[in-house]
Parts: sequence; structure tokens; C-alpha cells
Amino acid sequence: MKRTKIIDLLAAQPGGEVCAKGWVRSHRGSKNVDFIALNDGSTIKNIQVVADPAQFDEELLKLITTGACISVEGNLVESVGSGQAVEIQATKIEVLGTCGADYPMQKKGQTFEYMRQHAHMRLRTNTFGAVMRIRHNMAMAIHTYFHEHGFFYFHTPLITASDCEGAGNMFQVTTKNLYDLQKDEQGRIIYDDDFFGEQTSLTVSGQLEGELGATALGAIYTFGPTFRAENSNTPRHLAEFWMIEPEVAFLDQEELMDLEEDFIKYCVRWALDHCQDDLEFLNNPRLDPHLIERLQGVLKEEFVRLPYTEGINILQEAIKNGKKFEFPCNWGDDLASEHERYLVEEHFKKPVIMTDYPRAFKSFYMKQNAPVDAANPDGASVGYHGSVAPGPTMQGTDVLFPSIGEIIGGSVREADYDKLMNEIDRRQMDKTHLWWYIDTRRWGSCPHAGFGLGFERLILFVTGMQNIRDVIPFPRTPKSAAF
Ligand code: 4AD
Ligand code: MG
Repeated sequence: MKRTKIIDLLAAQPGGEVCAKGWVRSHRGSKNVDFIALNDGSTIKNIQVVADPAQFDEELLKLITTGACISVEGNLVESVGSGQAVEIQATKIEVLGTCGADYPMQKKGQTFEYMRQHAHMRLRTNTFGAVMRIRHNMAMAIHTYFHEHGFFYFHTPLITASDCEGAGNMFQVTTKNLYDLQKDEQGRIIYDDDFFGEQTSLTVSGQLEGELGATALGAIYTFGPTFRAENSNTPRHLAEFWMIEPEVAFLDQEELMDLEEDFIKYCVRWALDHCQDDLEFLNNPRLDPHLIERLQGVLKEEFVRLPYTEGINILQEAIKNGKKFEFPCNWGDDLASEHERYLVEEHFKKPVIMTDYPRAFKSFYMKQNAPVDAANPDGASVGYHGSVAPGPTMQGTDVLFPSIGEIIGGSVREADYDKLMNEIDRRQMDKTHLWWYIDTRRWGSCPHAGFGLGFERLILFVTGMQNIRDVIPFPRTPKSAAF
């Protein structure tokens, strides 16, 4: 008999014979009746299987333990119990896979830390089922959004010889024999005989190639894995994460922020529209009792657009009024997460798009704001109202979210050849691997902008989960690459 998914059975009218297959969530037996809660992953909801113990072999019923995989045939009938409209009155049960008492997901209420150690089995729990279905839905939302808005899905390489963010925290890719590395007189490894004939790594961002796409196709987006060997053992960092990077020609900073805001709201709305059952499950006192309310709240809010300089002024004002921060936040400092959280969660109480950062801690490719005084290009930028001479700022636009921090990092790109080259030289970057990128500014350069959304950070927000390791099936973090 053909199997029907539990999500479809639960939506069906009672009547007729059906077959369900799945994993046993619980089995309660009594003298007169056995109740089995069965789940097949198609929905958070279980179907209730009712079995008359007199009709089944006692040994078979004993094998129907939590975690066992079974196939059930029977009649779909109206359920008398509360909580479900239909249930299966079993006529035939087959155990497809038994499950012993050592099954690690047997007990309810295990800690997330425990579940991470059993990441191969945690997917079968309600929480991880819900998170993974939402993750899938968010991927669909993203592709649908860009498709509907005329963006082309553009595939950028994972193996690269350039360092987009210039932070140097890349994983190397080599086929060289690491036990017998040949070095030149200066002690540098010789890559001539390596697979690509030069040093290569896993990409930290598809942006640079994305810009090539955008300056030809008009609007593209990437959606793929990204790798960062930063030794950040935090609940917000992964060594392998998925990033979505739209890149658009002829977009200025205001339009970029419009896109960032519209896009995130579309994804959140999609979750509310398509993942109701899973969100209702996650919206509970043990996980996040205000999840749905928070998601609905974001849709209503207009994101604050805050120049970095004004942000610093607000933080300084807070310090004057007694607020204590661990790290300094004077003009020119990179904001620590405590500062971002203060602005988003305490001061504005809504998402903030921070703009116009000092160039010191932003990437080389960002558009530089015009200096106030053309004769002093390193002096204050146009639009600066603070008290400290700031130096030039760049048109970065980071979206900061409550409880997440930075969810998007974006910018307008520097389209001017001379300015870009000056910045590359100023940073003493190696131009040899960027010649093709620089060519976009030589031939038909155009104003353009884009951003990167950390997929897992979006999933953190939408699910209310607390640790980024719990929103990706098999997390990669320092000292952890199992599964
Ligand atoms: O701010 P980032 O470093 O920006 C870029 O890579 C740009 N090239 C993007 C662009 O403009 N096309 O990273 C973008 C986002 C961050 O805002 C954050 O959400 C996420 O990627 N992210 C991480 N997520 C998980 N683990 C990490 N280690 C992450 N590093 C960045
Ligand atoms: Mg960033």
C-alpha cells in the first residue's frame, strides 16, 4: 500500500485505508488500547496510531519503542481525543527499524549541548525538525524574493586566490604533500607545482565575483557556503556558514538600505505565512515565549538608519549617564557587540541600519564619502556632525538586529578607479590577485552596491534559537568538524 505523508493525513477527511511510515515519538500501552505517536518529519505534528493489543503480537508491540521506525496500515478515523482531527486505527504494523534503550534522543528535555554531541540524531527531535523545516523555507523565501525582483542567481567560486574581506582568516586549499613542503630562499612555500600553481583558499565571500556579475547582468545574488578560519568561539560564529550576497548596479546607499529592509521583512513574513506550526512549537517558555510577537513586531517597525558618528554620540551620552561598557567606543573604534546591543535593544528597541563607518575597520572596496575639504582628503567627510576630526568615512550599511547583532554587512562599492587603487595601496594589499576586479573600474565602471546576509543569523532570528550551532545541521567550529 502506498504511503501517505503525515502532513497530508492530518489534513485529510476521515474514511478509507491509509499507510503511514515514520519514527515513534512515544508509545503508551494499556490492557485495552495502545497509543503510538508517529512522526515522519513532514510536519511537527504527530499522527496518533491506535492499536487494539488483542489484535497484535505482544513481541511486536514491545519493539515499538521511542525512536523505532514503523510502518502502519489502518483506517483513518475521526479522533475522539483532543489535539487531532483524525487518527489511524491500526490493522497492520511492521517494525522497519528497532531502536534500543541506548538511543541518545530517548529522553525529553536534553540540553542543546548534549544534542550537539549527537548531531547525527538530533534532527529527529521536534526542535531540530522545526528548525530545519524553517531553514528550508527561508531558502525558498530568498530564492523567490530575488527571482520575483529580477535578480539572477549567480554562482561564484568556492576556491579562490583572493581574499575579499582582507582579513586573512582563510582555509588553504592544496594538494601539496604537507610532510614535504618545498620552500624558496626566503622560506616561503613554493606553490608553482601545487594544483592551481598558486596559493588558493576557500572563499570568505563571493562578493568580488558577484560584482562582475552585477556589472554585466544588472542584479545578481549568490547563495552558497562561505568559510572563515576566525577563532571565534561565540554563539554567532561558524567556520562554515551560508551567505546570501545580492549585488546591484546603479544602486545608491539609500536604495541599498531599502533593499536590505524590504528583503529581511519579506523573509520574516514568509516564515509567519509558511511555518506557522513550527513557529508555534518554538514559541514556548522553554525556548522563546515571545518569538511570534517579535517576528510580527519587526514587520511593523521601520528600521532606524543611523550614521556611525551619531551612534557614537548616543553611546557617549549613555556613558555620561552612567552606562558601563567593557570596551571603549570613541570615534574611530569598531563597535563591540555590547555597543550594538545597547543601540538596538535599549536605545531604539528596533533594528538599526548603521551607515558611514570610519574606513579604518571596513573593507577596501567600500565607497569613500567625499571629504569636507577637497584639499584635505583624509579629513572629515561630508555629513559629519561630530566633534572629533573623523577622517573619511565609507558607505557601509550594516543591519543590526535585536539579540543577533550584525545580521547583514553591506556597502556601496567604490566605483572610481583612482580612489580604489589608492585604498588598495594604502592598505598595502597584493594587487596581483585583484587585477580582474580592478578591471571593472577601468572598463565601463558603474555605481553599484550590495550586501551579505548570514543565513544562519537569519535562522537564529526567525527560530529564536540562541546558538548558531543549533540552526545548521552539522556545524563547523574551532576544534569541531564531526559528522
Ligand atoms: O560583514 P561580512 O564580513 O561582509 C562580507 O563578507 C561582504 N563581502 C558582504 C557583501 O557586501 N557582499 O559578512 C556578511 C554577513 C555578516 O553580516 C554576518 O551575518 C555573516 O555574514 N557572517 C557570519 N555568520 C556566521 N559565522 C561567521 N563567522 C560569520 N561572519 C560573517
Ligand atoms: Mg561585517
